[in-house]
Amino acid sequence: MDKFAIAKNGIDPNLVPKRTLHTGSQIPAIGLGTFGSDRFSYEQVAEAVKGAISVGYRHIDCASVYGNEDEIGKVFKEVLDSGEVKRDELWVTSKVWNDMHDRVVESCEKSLKDLQLDYLDLFLVHWPFPNYHAEGCDITSRSPDAKAYIHEDFMKTWAQMESLVEKGLVKNIGTSNMTIPKMKLLLRDAKIKPACNEMEQHPHFQQPKFFQFCMDNDIQPIGFCPIGSPTRPDRDKADSDTVDIEDPVVQKIAKRLNVHPAVVCVKWAVQRGQIPIPFSVHQNEYLGNLQSVTKDPITDQEMAEFSQIDKNCRLIKGDVFLWKDDQTWESLWDLDDEITPA
Ligand SMILES: NC(=O)c1ccc[n+]([C@@H]2O[C@H](COP(=O)([O-])OP(=O)(O)OC[C@H]3O[C@@H](n4cnc5c(N)ncnc54)[C@H](OP(=O)(O)O)[C@@H]3O)[C@@H](O)[C@H]2O)c1
Repeated sequence: MDKFAIAKNGIDPNLVPKRTLHTGSQIPAIGLGTFGSDRFSYEQVAEAVKGAISVGYRHIDCASVYGNEDEIGKVFKEVLDSGEVKRDELWVTSKVWNDMHDRVVESCEKSLKDLQLDYLDLFLVHWPFPNYHAEGCDITSRSPDAKAYIHEDFMKTWAQMESLVEKGLVKNIGTSNMTIPKMKLLLRDAKIKPACNEMEQHPHFQQPKFFQFCMDNDIQPIGFCPIGSPTRPDRDKADSDTVDIEDPVVQKIAKRLNVHPAVVCVKWAVQRGQIPIPFSVHQNEYLGNLQSVTKDPITDQEMAEFSQIDKNCRLIKGDVFLWKDDQTWESLWDLDDEITPA
């Protein structure tokens, strides 16, 4: 890897909008995803993090389960040691995986050690289910001890999350892959309410009700798969999945602005109010995504057209979290506005 230096062709981070959370923290309105799946090595993802910080990204979305936090940690150390970026200018998120719900503090300490940081800006419960499944397992496989969402158990996990704030190990805590009924219970019982909720959001999966619920409750939505994860492995694709970057509205705006349709998805997300965390290891792509939030806004008319193209097309269905053989993935998402019973 080359030595860290601020790139000459980058974006001034001060031009990137920030969102203020209910805790008072300010989070950059776009971040870089770091899940390389099996398409990119840990080193390639770490190199992308370094390149992204160099061109002006100040928000990096990590997770222990991505397996690359120690590689990314080497980059953070080099960046911070260089003095070019200060720790309080960087926003780092990590997440506790589902096999560590009863050992949240240990998981956080491991992420901090790997990332070579003293604190995290945001720590999320990655999934509200504690259901462990082996890496790369088939979506039909069920762990024998898999169980439904049990609110009492989740609150034990959440109490450990709250203790991290009290210990000063994390500045903010939040959730991911939640639903409105689960969130209502959490808001009822939490001592510290979530600052952010990371959820799948792209033009063909806008989750308007949940998005509005989060906004109404001052929980900042962070949108994952903002481009619709177009090059995800085939095993993660279903026949019914639609392709956001092929949508005529997205393509029409891309043509007007002379950018890739992916960039339009990112731009829409920021203008709508969720924080997109697009992934890419290619400098032209991650730079284009960052640049897009600083110029050439989508018009009000075009934003209105976006609200017409939602196809309710969830890509990350979560089948491996199911706890019964005869269930389909819809059971995970409380579609009747009630938590699916055990
Ligand atoms: N909380 C959760 O449960 C959860 C779940 C899933 C993801 N995430 C987070 O969300 C992040 C993003 O999700 P994702 O990687 O699945 O999907 P994504 O960001 O929607 O799509 C990423 C892909 O889009 C392409 N791309 C990106 N920018 C582009 C541009 N400007 N022009 C053309 N193509 C572009 C790249 O393809 P090529 O690589 O082929 O260039 C890249 O691999 C993850 O990395 C992870 O941090 C969180």
